[in-house]
Amino acid sequence: MDSSDVLPLKADIVAVRVSKLRHIRALQKLTRTIWRQHFPGIISVEQVEYMLHRFYGFWSLFKKRWKGENFYLIRAGRRHVGYFSYTTEHDSPQAQLNKFFLLKEFRGKGIAHAAFQHIIRRCEKAGCKSIWLAINRRNNDSITAWERLGFKVVREEAFDIGNKFVMDDYIMERRLD
Ligand SMILES: CC(C)(COP(=O)(O)OP(=O)(O)OC[C@H]1O[C@@H](n2cnc3c(N)ncnc32)[C@H](O)[C@@H]1OP(=O)(O)O)[C@@H](O)C(=O)NCCC(=O)NCCS
Repeated sequence: MDSSDVLPLKADIVAVRVSKLRHIRALQKLTRTIWRQHFPGIISVEQVEYMLHRFYGFWSLFKKRWKGENFYLIRAGRRHVGYFSYTTEHDSPQAQLNKFFLLKEFRGKGIAHAAFQHIIRRCEKAGCKSIWLAINRRNNDSITAWERLGFKVVREEAFDIGNKFVMDDYIMERRLD
């Protein structure tokens, strides 16, 4: 593994670039735990299960990873405690923070803040001028965290994801200059 594939975040906490099939399996398992812990109350249990099935199947993640979404698993010691992913495209000045999820007991400890320094550096290096993300409008604690990290709500969007489910999101953006 290349040293740039392991990002130091905090004492004993690193982010490891997803490069193996077993990493994808770990990410999938972690997603189920975090989503079932975090999202009921924000969206219905049925929508959580639908989205896990539709967007977090093994091959769906595999395709995203190999099409260029940069996935990192966050490890505290030997334990997987979260993950994030971001995308840069050579013809777009906008990078996307696709995912950032931590187990509950690892939130509020500065992990996103530390990871974000790496993400910003990499996006700037790729020529990006801003970074955006989509977040559920009722996901208040996480919206506050992103605001503290410099993001602003720029618009609302509703995505029809099938099976009569809709994602009511805010699009948040942070300029990089
Ligand atoms: C959103 C999330 C990734 C942020 O990661 P984190 O490691 O907890 O964030 P940090 O500890 O680095 O905190 C970043 C800033 O947000 C603030 N913050 C974090 N959680 C907060 C909360 N629940 N309420 C208010 N502020 C909060 C921190 O104080 C910090 O601000 P500061 O730099 O001014 O001190 C994490 O909380 C999470 O996994 N949430 C659940 C999953 C989710 O909703 N993900 C986002 C999907 S888009």
